[in-house]
Amino acid sequence: MAQIFSRIVGTGGYLPEKVLTNHDLESMVDTTHEWIVARTGIHQRHIAAENETTCDLAQQAALQAMDAAGIRPEDIELIIIATTTADQVFPSTACKLQHRLNIPQGPAFDVQAVCAGFIYALDIADKYIRSGTVKRALVVGAETFSRIIDWTDRNTCVLFGDGAGAVILEAAAKPGIIASHITADGRYRNLLEVPGGVSSAYQDVQNGRAYVRMQGHEVFKWAVKALGNEAQDMLAANHLSVDELDWLVPHQANIRIISAMAKRLHIPMERVIKTIHRHGNTSAASVPLALNMAVRDGRIQAGQKILLEAFGGGFTWGSVLIHYI
Ligand code: UT7
Repeated sequence: MAQIFSRIVGTGGYLPEKVLTNHDLESMVDTTHEWIVARTGIHQRHIAAENETTCDLAQQAALQAMDAAGIRPEDIELIIIATTTADQVFPSTACKLQHRLNIPQGPAFDVQAVCAGFIYALDIADKYIRSGTVKRALVVGAETFSRIIDWTDRNTCVLFGDGAGAVILEAAAKPGIIASHITADGRYRNLLEVPGGVSSAYQDVQNGRAYVRMQGHEVFKWAVKALGNEAQDMLAANHLSVDELDWLVPHQANIRIISAMAKRLHIPMERVIKTIHRHGNTSAASVPLALNMAVRDGRIQAGQKILLEAFGGGFTWGSVLIHYI
């Protein structure tokens, strides 16, 4: 039997209407627009409305991706949502989305790998398609990270934003997704975390809620090293040189992480997709949002080779090498 691969046939994205600028943050914490831009590259981020949830953002991104792919709800056989900020403890956000979009079949589940979540979800969906289990998957990265941010902590509140990105993955005779790789190192779990949870005692609760805590400097160093090595290993394993790569679509956490990693890889910044200035760090949504933007503005085109990669709490990280066909 001929081998089955997967390919991306549609992308979508959604950002909440409300924009929070660095100048807005100046009146909330002891910070300046200049500091935030110099240290992170971020100018603004989008914040979900009070009654807007992760599933609402996921729904908009998914509809756009389905429209781009020209498919109907009944064509989708698998839904995976990468999120750290699910609407509820359960059911999963993917099950809620399945109902909202009138998708008549499953499976549907959430994946939790924080900022690397979309890479994890794409890796899983590709394997479902390659095995012949399903023909079409909806893969979403969606977050309302603003809900787990301590808005009095200048170390973290200037970094994050809300949003959603989605792709439709379809069975194909040729790859599409050339290769994917995901990994984790739980020894570093405490460097970036929300210390409270459902099953553990809430050790870090303010007003009954738990928030992101981060040792920024340590995370920064690790992210540059892990992402640099990840990209080099992925290209080497697939006998590709950096010159053969058309676009790098990295997780948007900090422009300094992106440029340090690009320098390590010897890829010019002109071939790196950047949304950090407008979106901030949208965690699991950052890679699909950046991918969608570059597809829609015409930079990413059929025939090109693209490397997606991300790094997040856990630590978790990974990459997906794509022939955009
Ligand atoms: O998605 C993956 C998860 N997250 C990341 O990848 C983030 C990784 N880390 C980073 O991006 C950077 O470490 C930060 C942007 C968080 C911080 O930048 P940094 O260059 O590592 O700064 P720093 O933490 O070493 O802090 C430098 C100074 C400190 O003051 P002192 O101790 O030197 O007096 C901070 O208190 O900057 C201060 N600072 C701020 N000043 C103004 C920290 N946050 C702010 C702020 N505004 N918002």
